[in-house]
Amino acid sequence: SSRRRRIYEGKAKILYEGPEPGTIVQYFKDDATAFNNQKKGTITGKGVINNRISEYLMTRLNEIGVPTHFIRRLNMREQLVRQVEIIPLEVVVRNVAAGSLAQRFGIPEGQALPRSILEFYYKNDQLGDPMVTEEHITAFGWATPQDIDDIVALALRVNDFLSGLFLGIGIKLIDFKIEFGRLYEEEMVRVVLADEISPDSCRLWDLKTNEKMDKDRFRRDLGKVEEAYQEVARRLGILLDPG
Ligand code: C5P
Repeated sequence: SSRRRRIYEGKAKILYEGPEPGTIVQYFKDDATAFNNQKKGTITGKGVINNRISEYLMTRLNEIGVPTHFIRRLNMREQLVRQVEIIPLEVVVRNVAAGSLAQRFGIPEGQALPRSILEFYYKNDQLGDPMVTEEHITAFGWATPQDIDDIVALALRVNDFLSGLFLGIGIKLIDFKIEFGRLYEEEMVRVVLADEISPDSCRLWDLKTNEKMDKDRFRRDLGKVEEAYQEVARRLGILLDPG
């Protein structure tokens, strides 16, 4: 991939110019960060697993009519996606109290929420991704009220679908983060799901044991991080190459 022009390098992924105009190659690294870059490490094989899990989930979501940037997987660590204009928001949907919500409101982790809660964070590393309201989003021009309507509707559909999908394989979808982009096609602008959906960006707990099967194993030094990611892939029916 050295022949391609590198467009952007993030914490867990590198974006390269794609083979055709309007396309991007997303390369999945093994690097992991937490607590806004204060904790750094690598999870061996994570990039390979997340490439496959994100491919699988984006494909299933596409099938139920959720538009995504995903085109196709290229190889072990790369996938071809549509070039979108990223909306600088992290959209978090929560079903069960955990992480920063449990912290902020003093709710025990694992307590079911009375309804799903959707939150917006402004995507900005220097600021540590501060939580924002729709007022901030529209006032600062990060998204229009129509964009926000589309984002909320899509995020709730993603939550409903993925909650059911994971429940079917004995996993509780506690919460997750997704990102959206604007796709310009034929004088039309559409909001589509972008980035990735993987155990890096979701909290996934085993239905029976409540064992964590996500990046919290890395954040909290619980060990067996790669094994947990592999188990999520295995339950989704994804066959990973041995070795
Ligand atoms: O830390 P917090 O409880 O706010 O995280 C909520 C969800 O969003 C978790 O699933 C976490 O993995 C995800 N998240 C993320 N990227 C961030 C912050 C949170 O994927 N920068």
